Amino acid sequence: MAKQILVTGGTGYIGSHTVVELQGKGFDVVVVDDLSNSQITVLDNIEKITGIRPAFEQFNLADRDKTDAFFQKYSNIEAIIHFAAFKAVGESVQKPLEYYRNNLTSLMNLLECMNKYGVKHMVFSSSCTVYGQPDVLPVTEETPRKEAESPYGNTKAICEDIMRDYCATNDKINCIALRYFNPIGAHPTALIGELPVGVPNNLVPFITQTAAGLREELSIFGDDYDTPDGTAIRDYINVVDLAEAHVVAINRMLDEKQKANYEFFNVGTGSGYSVNELVQAFIKVNKVDLKYKIVGRRHGDIEKIWADTSYGNKELGWSASRTLEETLESAWKWEKNVRGIE
Ligand code: UD1
Repeated sequence: MAKQILVTGGTGYIGSHTVVELQGKGFDVVVVDDLSNSQITVLDNIEKITGIRPAFEQFNLADRDKTDAFFQKYSNIEAIIHFAAFKAVGESVQKPLEYYRNNLTSLMNLLECMNKYGVKHMVFSSSCTVYGQPDVLPVTEETPRKEAESPYGNTKAICEDIMRDYCATNDKINCIALRYFNPIGAHPTALIGELPVGVPNNLVPFITQTAAGLREELSIFGDDYDTPDGTAIRDYINVVDLAEAHVVAINRMLDEKQKANYEFFNVGTGSGYSVNELVQAFIKVNKVDLKYKIVGRRHGDIEKIWADTSYGNKELGWSASRTLEETLESAWKWEKNVRGIE
C-alpha cells in the first residue's frame, strides 16, 4: 500500500506544488487546510495535473480536538509536511497574538498527535528569515540565527526550537526544518501557482500583476544598498524545485538516513539576484513592458542574503535545477492563465 502523507496547508502555494510532486512519486496524500488563504478549486487543478484528487479535510490545526479526531480517522499516516501557517509579515506586526496562537499551537497539536498516534516524521516550513541580515554571506546551516524582525519571523524561530526540544526528549519523533529562501514561479502547466489575496507584498506577484495591468507600477524598494546595482539581493528558488526538496526530505526520514532526529537545511539555489536583475530578466524573457520606479527602502527589509547549499546538496543529494529564466516564464504564464490573458 502506498505510504500516506499528511500535507497541511496543501491548497496553498508551496503546499499544492508539493502535493503534485508527492503524488508523482506514488505517495498517497491527505490535505488538511482551513482555506483561510487558499481556494478549494486548487484540488481540481492538482487532479488535472496528476490524475489523482487528494483526500481533503477542512479545519484549522490550532483546534486540538479536531486535530485529534483527524488522526483517529486517518490511521495510516506515516509522515507530515506542515505548511499551514499565517505568513504575512506586516499583518503579524498588527496581530501578533493571532500569529503566535495559530503558528505555534498548530505545530504543538501535531507533535502531540504524532506522539499519541505513532506518526514518526515531520517536515516543517521554516524560512531564511531566521538568519536576519547575516554578517557573512552566503549563509550555511552553521550561520547563527538572529533576533526576528517580526512576529511572523519569530514564529518560525520558535517553531524550530519547539521541534528541537521535543525531539531531544522523544527519540521516536523525527523532524526536518527546511529554511526556504525566496520561492517564486509556478507549475509549468500554469494550473497551480501563487494566488495572493489583495495587493501582493512579495516581489514576483507584484511584477506579474503589474505586467497584467492590475497594478499601475512596480515600486523597487531602495537602490542605495551596498550591492553592485544598489538594489537588494535574494536567492530566488523555483517552487517546483522547492517542492521536490520536500519529497527528498520525506524519503530521508522514511529511509532512516537522518543524522539526528532534528535536522535543518537551507533550501535555496546558492545564487543571489538583485531586484533590478530580476525585473530586467522578467522583461527580457517574457518580452513584456513593465512600468517601475525606484522608491525608498521598505521597513524591515534586509540588504542581501543567499544560501550556501553545499551541506544540503551533500546530505540530501538534491539541488535546485531550474533556471531563473524558466522560473520567471512560469510565473508569467500562471498570471496570464489566472487573468485570461492570451
Ligand atoms: C518576505 C518576508 C520573509 C518571507 C518571504 C516569503 C519581509 C521582510 N520578509 O521576504 O520573511 O519568508 O517574504 O513570503 O517581508 N520588493 C520590491 N518591490 C515590491 C516587493 C518587493 O522592491 O513591490 C523587493 C523587497 O524590498 C526585497 C525583494 O523585492 O528586496 C524581495 O521581496 P519579497 O518578495 O517581499 O521577499 P522578502 O522580503 O525577501
